[in-house]
Amino acid sequence: MMKRNMYLSLSMLTLAAGLSAAEPVVIQLPEARRSGGMPLMDALSARRSTRNFKKDAPIADAVLGELLWATWGYNREDKRTAPTAVNAQELDVYVLRADGAWLYDARKHALIQVVDKDIRSATLMENIAQPFVLDAPVTLVYVCDATRGPKGADGKGIIGKWAGTDTGFLAQNAYLYCASAGLGTVVRGSFPPETLAKALKLNENQFVTLCQCVGWPQ
Ligand SMILES: Cc1cc2nc3c(=O)[nH]c(=O)nc-3n(C[C@H](O)[C@H](O)[C@H](O)COP(=O)(O)O)c2cc1C
Repeated sequence: MMKRNMYLSLSMLTLAAGLSAAEPVVIQLPEARRSGGMPLMDALSARRSTRNFKKDAPIADAVLGELLWATWGYNREDKRTAPTAVNAQELDVYVLRADGAWLYDARKHALIQVVDKDIRSATLMENIAQPFVLDAPVTLVYVCDATRGPKGADGKGIIGKWAGTDTGFLAQNAYLYCASAGLGTVVRGSFPPETLAKALKLNENQFVTLCQCVGWPQ
């Protein structure tokens, strides 16, 4: 009888483990403040690229949540803090940090885990030395989903040609929030697109447009 109970408990544990493996890990971010911060002209005066980050100085989820809301949150029922061509909203922001890679779900203001290990090094190009990338606790990765928005005569999405322009608005939002919050940041166009897409498990219609390191400046 005891043996049978043990088997039952074991199979229930296995079932629980199986269920939890199927469910992605989700982090609910604290609600972002939508007022305050540095006056706009001061933030513009302070905006700059930083490549010296304090090591082992994580960004708290409350600050990360504000950064993500400022970058690409909803500031109206169905529209966002950054404009996109024909309001296609073709971009997603992924967050890379030591505990994995996370998709920012702006509707829920939550992080959904897509990779359970640190893949910040997958943003590095072999021939370009950027050691600061591994010091920065967060790398934002901007990803275009080319299936969103209008389609061409061949039925394929045409938004890809605007993705770079649209990314610039998100990245500048992040720059301004960082200036206001005392964070350092730098956008990075030098990343290996295929390696990074693979590490992030992107599908064939998605591509990375830009990376942006964020951390506390030294
Ligand atoms: C599209 C784009 C790509 C960039 N790529 C990189 C990069 O790969 N690595 C890097 O260190 N800085 C990169 N930068 C940052 C620029 O070097 C930086 O913005 C420029 O030197 C001006 O400095 P500031 O941002 O402090 O005004 C990039 C900037 C832009 C707009």
